[in-house]
Amino acid sequence: MSTTEDIIGRSDLNDIEAILAISNTDVDEVEHIVKDNSDAIFTWDYSLKRPALRRLYEKAKTGQWNGTTDLAWDTDVDLEATIAADQATLGSGVDPNVYIGTPVEKWGPKEWMEFGMESRRWTLSQFLHGEQGALICTAKITETVPWYDAKLYAATQVVDEARHVEVFARYIDEKLGGGYQVNAHLRMLLDDIVNDSRWDMTYLGMQVMVEGLALAAFGFLHQLTGEPLLKQLLRYVMSDEARHVAFGVLSLKEVYEGMDDREIKDRQEFAFEAAVRMRDRFLSQEVWERMGIDARQVLPIVINDPTRAVFQQMLFSKIVPNCKKLGLLDRNDAWLRRRFQEMNVIQFEDWEGTGEEYLKFELGKDAPSPIAG
Ligand SMILES: [Fe+2]
Ligand SMILES: [Fe+2]
Repeated sequence: MSTTEDIIGRSDLNDIEAILAISNTDVDEVEHIVKDNSDAIFTWDYSLKRPALRRLYEKAKTGQWNGTTDLAWDTDVDLEATIAADQATLGSGVDPNVYIGTPVEKWGPKEWMEFGMESRRWTLSQFLHGEQGALICTAKITETVPWYDAKLYAATQVVDEARHVEVFARYIDEKLGGGYQVNAHLRMLLDDIVNDSRWDMTYLGMQVMVEGLALAAFGFLHQLTGEPLLKQLLRYVMSDEARHVAFGVLSLKEVYEGMDDREIKDRQEFAFEAAVRMRDRFLSQEVWERMGIDARQVLPIVINDPTRAVFQQMLFSKIVPNCKKLGLLDRNDAWLRRRFQEMNVIQFEDWEGTGEEYLKFELGKDAPSPIAG
């Protein structure tokens, strides 16, 4: 029986010292090598076995777009004006009043503006690194999944992810003047996903957890920002991302129905580990550091900041219903349900899952609101 400490390396979810002990110490790293332990599997059965996946494949072929020509790259992005407008809509994302007694207390409008600009650079950089993770994971799934229909679909996702890496990298470089290295919690999660030898774990870690969170986060930023190029970019990416999450849910449902409790427990633990790593990364420790603030002094407050908590929880609005659909919440005495209760995200369990929702995200339609179930 694994303990929380066995799974995530600490027993207290909010142990700031343990969270900060994981940081990216090699910011000049260019190449990062991860051992991929899985088998490549051929199939000689080319018959149509999974019509839902084949429908998704057909949708993917007609849903392609071109990151070079479909986005308005000639848009002039004034980052400061963008952040000012976005902060006017929603504030800085944190409540300045709860930071009294910390170095942040002395911040004026200039510092909050800088914090907003750095947060935008940081956020989009982590999206970028996550996109590269998706590119690698989906190439891996193309090799490792034993089903023909899934191989076809996964191949289209590889192209989608290449395009996402392309557009985020270009936006950060041309419009934001550079970004951030990968956050160590995110990198650790991506490493674990690539490292695992079981093909369904790639799907669970990437398509259900990382992409489920990305779909919610992109939706939130898409709704919030008034910057037209970023809004357009996110809308295009979301039309693909919704298919990707559907791919995960449609594939894993079949697999998990046939698994015994012990096998399911491994999946529940992996889903919990992924959820915690993503929650840890959203503490954005690198932004505080770049602002000259000792993260140890503010993170205990950040973690309990009520303004931030709403956003933080919302990130799980796709993950929780999809885990429920997969039967992961309630197996083994509701083990994952209890973990999600501890993380205060269980309230999303009956929100719409993403198995069929991808049709609503197609280009030309109004994407569903990220803050409505
Ligand atoms: Fe993507
Ligand atoms: Fe994706």
